[in-house]
Order: sequence, then structure tokens, then C-alpha cells
Amino acid sequence: MSRIVVVSNRVPVPAGNAGQAGGLAVALLGLMQQRGGLWFGWSGAVTEQAGGPDVVQRGAIGYATIDLTEAEHGGYYTGYSNGVLWPMLHGLPHLMAFRRQDLDTYRRVNRRFAESLVPLLRQDDRIWVHDYHLLSLPAALRARGMRGPTGFYLHVPFPAPDAAATAPGIRGLVEDVLKADLIGFQTTTDRDNFAAAAQGFAGAAQVADQMLELGGRPIRLGVFPAEIAAQEFARTAAVQVQAEPARLLARSLGDQALVLGVDRLDPTKGLPERLEAFRRTIARRPARSLAMLQIAAPSREDVLAYRRLRQEIDLAAGAINSDFGEPDWLPLRLLARSQTRDTVAGFMRMARVGMVTPLRDGMNLVAKEYIAAQDPRDPGVLVLSRFAGAAAQLSSALLVNPHDAEGMAEAIQRALDMPLAERRERWEAAWAAIAGTSPEAWGEAFLEALVPGELAALPAA
Ligand code: G6P
Repeated sequence: MSRIVVVSNRVPVPAGNAGQAGGLAVALLGLMQQRGGLWFGWSGAVTEQAGGPDVVQRGAIGYATIDLTEAEHGGYYTGYSNGVLWPMLHGLPHLMAFRRQDLDTYRRVNRRFAESLVPLLRQDDRIWVHDYHLLSLPAALRARGMRGPTGFYLHVPFPAPDAAATAPGIRGLVEDVLKADLIGFQTTTDRDNFAAAAQGFAGAAQVADQMLELGGRPIRLGVFPAEIAAQEFARTAAVQVQAEPARLLARSLGDQALVLGVDRLDPTKGLPERLEAFRRTIARRPARSLAMLQIAAPSREDVLAYRRLRQEIDLAAGAINSDFGEPDWLPLRLLARSQTRDTVAGFMRMARVGMVTPLRDGMNLVAKEYIAAQDPRDPGVLVLSRFAGAAAQLSSALLVNPHDAEGMAEAIQRALDMPLAERRERWEAAWAAIAGTSPEAWGEAFLEALVPGELAALPAA
């Protein structure tokens, strides 16, 4: 069996920078633990000199990481990846802050990834590149003579071509990523939008639903929705609900119903809109009958839009508590701190309502975790944005438009008042959609489609 080489910007080296893991790390870690292989990417360190690669072996996984200089980090990660590509890909072009030199640095760092990785490669490796930080990497690897099968997976959405075109430089990056043999997406919408961009920006021809051709070379496209280890998360939640953090939370709540949100503090997550929905809810429900806990883990604080968002939600949360609080009671707890996954699992099991209301999201694994965490005998209700990739699989949730605070407030009320039979029915349908899947199966489906030299059958989209 050929070795798998995963390349991603963020590499969760054990004992490294702990914190609220993003969806990418959550989805990949299980696969890599089971399968083994090499995981290459940024160490998380910003140093004076460009360093690495440093290679460490941890169980079945070899981690090879490079450090970034401050200029590389500022241009490639903060500037272009998170200041331009991230907002564009999520349909928020007004948040883009473009500087030409950041695009140049982005391309240069992608080339540096390739230069550092190629000497570590073996002849029969299968390479799997992840996410929007590394759109240029397939081309950079080919330019350094790498011939083996190369896959690329986009964890985030891909918008319609005219929206994609708002990001300066995207045309060249679409050409670069088309040097991969297989490109995977979370949803059919993302795949179809990308196929249209590949034709419009790079002159690719669409020869089938799941196949493009460029320069006489086939490029396969596939849909592989990211998954969680649902059974394992369910077991964790059942244990953690008895652990101290959950017990303390339960004691502080008494018989108030818990409304829970768990997110990175990110402009795509719809946090101000969600707080407004809670504000409207609290104004209509009996005092002290419910409380909201919003965990908002600080993220990408070098990016202005993220710092502004922090101020905005601090202000909104303060206003809710000063308007509706009592001397001995506050309706909202906003924590700008990450919590461990175990603690979060216990909180999720206690929550009557899980709020997952991003303005746009590739998949959103928190939605799947909330379902997995529920007690099947007495499950809570998921309020889920229509614009999260997860909505395609979890259609039995209460689906909402995250721009409509009033609609979300109605959904929260409906969730709070929902009879047990309906809660169970909705939960069972959602559980059925995720119970049999795993990150390992997700990864294997992608890797099988990346079989050298032949066209593997793709899962039905
Ligand atoms: C999303 C992205 C990942 C990213 C994660 C955390 O899930 O798809 O690529 O790693 O957010 O963001 P960060 O910038 O901290 O890596």
C-alpha cells in the first residue's frame, strides 16, 4: 500500500498549540491515526529565520513542519489566505483586504512548501493537499518534478464564478490547483461552482459531471462530505456530562434551559445575528427560564475583521445582560476562550438547543457533534443554518436563515417548546445520517478515488 502524505497549513502536532481545533484538523486526525503516513505543514511557529523541515514520529504519524518568518506569516496566512481567500470563499467580499505583495508571498510560501516537501517524498507516495492556503501547491509540486497522484480537498465553500472573481489572483490559483488529479469538495454546489470557474478562468473543458479536462489531462472532481467519529463522540458526551465542568454548569443553571453555541470567533459564524436572535427570545420568555452559553474561541487575531468582531460581540453581549439581567441572574454567558473537546461534548449533551448558524460554512462539524452528543431518550434540538454544508445531511434540524434574527428567534422558541416525540423523531433522522460514517471512511473514499493511473468509481454525489 502506498504511503499517504497529507499537506495542510495547520498540523496538529501532539503537545503543540492546543486550542479549539478547526474542522480540518478534527477530520484528518482520526484518519491519520488509523492509517499512518506523513503529515506536512506549518509548525505554528513564527521565527526570525525560515526554519525546517523538522520531522518527528508520533505513533504511526510522521510530522514534518516548517516555521514561517514574520513576513511569510503576515503575507501568506494573515494577509492573503485569511484576509482575501477566506472572506471571498464564504461570500463576504466586503471583508477582503487585498495587498499585491500578500499574493506574491502566498505563492512564494506555496513554493517553499513544495521545496521542503519534495526531498521527503518516496516514489509511490499519494499526496493529499488540504484547503485554501495551498491552492498553488499542486502546480509547485509538479514544477519540482513530482509525478505521483496528487489530490486536493477544499474544506470550505467555493462560490459562483462571479463571486470568486472578486479575489484578485484567484484565476491563477484555480489554474494551479487544476494540476491535481482529483479535487474534492464538501457539497455538490461547491463542486459545480468550481467546475464553472475552472472553465471560465482556466479554459478547462467539462467532459462529465465529475470530470474536467485541461491540456489533454483529466482532472476528476468529487464530493466527500467531512465526517466526525460520531459513535466515539456520543460515548465521550455521555461520560463528560457527569464530569466536573458539566456538573458545575448544570448546578449554575438550575432548571433553566441551556441554549449553546460553540464556534471559532470568526465573521463567517453569524455571531452578532445569533446574539440578536437570543435577545429577541429572552425578551419573550419568562425571566430565568433559559440561559445561553456562547463559546467563541479567539481565532486569527492578526486580521482586523476578527478584532472588530470581538468588540462587536462583546458590546452586544454586554447590552443583553444589562438590559435583561437581574442582580442575581444574567441570561448570557459569552466566553472568548477555547474549551477542550471533552468539556464541550458534555455541555452539548446538556443543551436543550444547539445553535449552529454560520452565514456560510463548508460543512460545520460542530453541528454533527451536537447531534452525536445528545441523549437519545431526551434529545435537544439543533437550530442549523441553511448555508452550512451540514444542512444537506441534517435536514431534520430546524433550518434557518442566519440573516433573519426574527426567524432564528422563532426557531429557538419552537425548539424550547418542542414535544419529546418530535424531538426524538428529528434527532433519529439526523443521527441516522451520521452514525454510520467516520473521518476514516471519508478519507478512504477520497484516497480510493486517487488510485494511480486508473479512474476509480466516485461515490454518488
Ligand atoms: C477552518 C479551515 C481550516 C483551519 C481552521 C482553523 O476549519 O478550513 O483550514 O485550519 O478553520 O483556522 P486556523 O486559521 O486557526 O488554522
